[in-house]
Amino acid sequence: MSKSGHDHGPRHPSPSQGGSVSSRVPGFYKLSIDERLGLLSERSQLSQAEEALLRSGCLSVEQANHMVENVIGTYALPLGLGLNFQINGRDHLVPMCVEEPSVIAAASNAARMVREGGGFVAEADPPLMIAQVQIYDVPDTESGTQAILADKAALIAACNDAQPNLQKRGGGTRDIEVRTLEAATADRPGMLVVHLIVDCCDAMGANLVNTVAESVAARLAELAGGCYGLRILSNLADRRCVRVRCRVPLAVLRSERFDGVAVRDGIVLASRFAELDPYRAATHNKGIMNGIDPVVLATGNDWRGVEAGAHAFAARSGVYRPLATWRAGDDGHLLGQIELPMAIGTVGGTLRVHPGARLGLQLLGVKSATELGMVMASVGLASNLAALRALAAEGIQQGHMSLHARSVAVSAGATGDLVDVVAAELAKLGDVRHERAVQILGQLQDRA
Ligand code: MEV
Repeated sequence: MSKSGHDHGPRHPSPSQGGSVSSRVPGFYKLSIDERLGLLSERSQLSQAEEALLRSGCLSVEQANHMVENVIGTYALPLGLGLNFQINGRDHLVPMCVEEPSVIAAASNAARMVREGGGFVAEADPPLMIAQVQIYDVPDTESGTQAILADKAALIAACNDAQPNLQKRGGGTRDIEVRTLEAATADRPGMLVVHLIVDCCDAMGANLVNTVAESVAARLAELAGGCYGLRILSNLADRRCVRVRCRVPLAVLRSERFDGVAVRDGIVLASRFAELDPYRAATHNKGIMNGIDPVVLATGNDWRGVEAGAHAFAARSGVYRPLATWRAGDDGHLLGQIELPMAIGTVGGTLRVHPGARLGLQLLGVKSATELGMVMASVGLASNLAALRALAAEGIQQGHMSLHARSVAVSAGATGDLVDVVAAELAKLGDVRHERAVQILGQLQDRA
């Protein structure tokens, strides 16, 4: 038994020792915050300082002052743990920073269902980012392209000279591609864009690739006979995609009122709906980002970049499409898959200055940015599964409402155990209004 009085099963090696901490913690949601932290400290071998960091909001105003300008404070969001995740046979406790009720519970519940089908199976491209150099006023776009490609080896060497440390870490510029954005005609010059394909190792890589782009822009313009314009990464990081699939057994798909086949067919139809309609695809993908963004945030990564990449990738065919799709497999079970760019890092950037982001990564126990991307995409697929399962069966409001009821109970003034009592009463009545919560709380307090 642990110090919190719960039987946690066998001790697992800590992530830093290279082992995987079990992500199965039945009843975690029923524990007090102290008990949860006690259990986490034991499983993930947190130090007292790290536990204190979690309790104190993970970032001091002084630290914030080193991150951005004109600091006047910090702004906290809830940090919860996504449970049950097993990815490529490895368990991960997933820190999720998010304000929306039900996101963490729903993802954890879906991860438990996927676990029953063997867990998530993920693969990722190498960590290749694209830096773009715009070349305009090109008199002959065809010969300009050829001139750049003919000089590729020297250009790659120049790119690598600009980032010697990256090369030492095993990364560096791998390739150069030229795209014609506007062909030159007899009447007007054209525009090219040069893509520098850079292996960023475990960094997100924005600063790395921007430096590379700036270092060779003048030479590129000279070769093309034009002028250089912008030199900046592309957030459509489609050379750095992650693909995840999962299999959900029919037996675990069953809901209160619907059997597994009905729920599976409802999810497949929901997927088809999103494949056919961009209005639905946007909401479908929002449900996916419900899972991804909280992990991006909890690990100090750039969620605007990940969002931009995801939606640009979703629209790459010219029509906005769902990032994840669902089908019935030959054996009747539900099969899901997701693919999206994942431009994230496990070194540098925010991680240098934000202790909460470092702790988030430590809890996850990932060894590389590539592995982190696979976890994030898996959480996205889980969130999508949870949303579609609810929508295809009882509807989203039932689950949402019981969790929403807790926030309403708190806003009405409930504290401690009263939060759950008031929330349960609101859910039972099917009336989750603030006034009703105030009334129930008043009655409970009168009785006490
Ligand atoms: C709500 O945050 C997300 C959903 O709208 C996603 C979906 O409709 O698939 C429930």
